[in-house]
Parts: sequence; C-alpha cells; structure tokens
Amino acid sequence: MLEAKNISKSFGKNLVLKNISLTVEEGERLVIIGPSGCGKSTLLRCLNYIEKPNKGKVLFEGRDLSDSRVDINKIRMKMGMVFQQFNLFPHLTVLENMILAPTKLKIMRDEEAKKKAISLLESIDLKDKKDFYPSQLSGGQKQRVAIVRAMLMDPKMMLFDEPTSALDPEMIGEVTSLMQKLGDDGMTMVVVSHEMNFVKNFATRVIFMENGTIIEEGSADQIFNHPKNDRLKEFLSKVA
Ligand SMILES: Nc1ncnc2c1ncn2[C@@H]1O[C@H](COP(=O)(O)OP(=O)(O)OP(=O)(O)O)[C@@H](O)[C@H]1O
Ligand SMILES: [Mg+2]
Repeated sequence: MLEAKNISKSFGKNLVLKNISLTVEEGERLVIIGPSGCGKSTLLRCLNYIEKPNKGKVLFEGRDLSDSRVDINKIRMKMGMVFQQFNLFPHLTVLENMILAPTKLKIMRDEEAKKKAISLLESIDLKDKKDFYPSQLSGGQKQRVAIVRAMLMDPKMMLFDEPTSALDPEMIGEVTSLMQKLGDDGMTMVVVSHEMNFVKNFATRVIFMENGTIIEEGSADQIFNHPKNDRLKEFLSKVA
C-alpha cells in the first residue's frame, strides 16, 4: 500500500533520515519506536509529504508522491493524520471541526458531511458534544474527535504521531481502545508511540529507529522479548 524507498531528509546540515526504506501492507499496524530526536516524526511526515524528502521516493498505492501529476491533497486525505496536540480549531465546534476539510475541499456537501460526522461521533459516544468547543472537552475526548475527524474522509491508511503523549494517564486508555478498534476493523496504521504496553498488544510489526536509521525490525514479540541489537536493549530497559 505504501512504500518508502531510500529516503533521506536533512534540515540544514542536520541529516535526520538516512536512506530509510520501508513498506506498509494493507491491514498492517506498524509502530515506530526510538529515542527522542531519532527522526520518528520526520519519517511519518515524509510518508505523506508534509515534509519532502531530499532523496528517495514515497509510493502510495503505486503512485510516486513526487510526481507533479499526483494531487498530493487527494492522497493526504487517504492517509489521515493524527498528531499529539489534537490540532482541532479552537474557534470551531466539534461538528464544525469535523466537516471543515471535506466541505471546504468540496468532497462532500454540508448535509452529507454532517450526517456522517454525527454518526462517527455516535460511534465514540460523543454525539452529545457535537456543539461543544474543543476547550470544553477533555484531552481524551479531543483526541478521539481528532481521530474520527480523520476518518470522515474514508482514509485507506492512518498515521498517528504520539497520539497519547499529551494525555493524562487516565485518558490514554480511551484513545488506545479506539485505535485498537480501528485496527480490528482492518484499518492500516502507522503509529509513533512511547506507550509500550499498548504497542506490545497493538503492533503487527515494530520498527526501532535510532539516529535517522532503522536499527531493528520485527514482530512485537521479537522486538520486546527477543531484541538483538544492544541499542534496542538499552532503549527498552529505559522505557520499561
Ligand atoms: N522543521 C524542522 N526544522 C529543523 N530541524 C528539524 C525540524 N523538524 C525536526 N528537526 C530535527 O530533526 C531531528 C529529528 O526530529 P523528529 O521530530 O523527527 O524526532 P522524533 O524522533 O520524532 O523525536 P520525539 O520523540 O522527541 O518526538 C531533531 O534533531 C530535530 O531537531
Ligand atoms: Mg516526534
């Protein structure tokens, strides 16, 4: 479904991604772990071209994202992204936040978008909050709204960058449960997370990154119970 081929990215003289290649198959739940600053967010952002790699290619369903004939905005809608900081607009209600992109981009009519938004809110038990502003929601509620907002576009795949790290501990579970449910429903996901207990149960594959490269890759069992690389062992001992 998604393929990154030999991508490199630098900011000025700082080479942040070094010749990274990875593929994501349909239905996979790929989790990227690694120490702070190793390039996880940059890699995720290169996968949907929010950040453009300096070298290498990203192919989504076989289409090269650097190709000028590819409509990158259309592709991005198919790769819904969820950030650590929710990114809801504070001056818009929950419902207005949800329908903004599809109506502005004229992908859906107002009525259709509202109907779909309400049914998605209902699925996460937040229908009664549709006219609330983000400031009136808890962190966990905001993040769940951000997730279903991305789903309104019927994405084929979703990218999550530390979706629980801004949350109070008691709210982490409601967000990870929603992600688990999405996974069970077959959504293809690429997730950056420090929430190791969640990752162990959730990931179909784990990538350990350090210093801009992929150091080790395997099933959750291989990575957590039988790590090979010393750097990975050290990282796991710190986060455990
Ligand atoms: N827009 C930018 N401009 C300049 N440097 C950047 C930019 N974004 C990231 N970097 C640098 O790239 C490196 C990797 O950053 P990145 O955010 O990808 O790390 P990370 O693995 O996601 O870290 P964390 O776990 O703390 O989120 C860091 O040295 C960072 O300072
Ligand atoms: Mg990051």
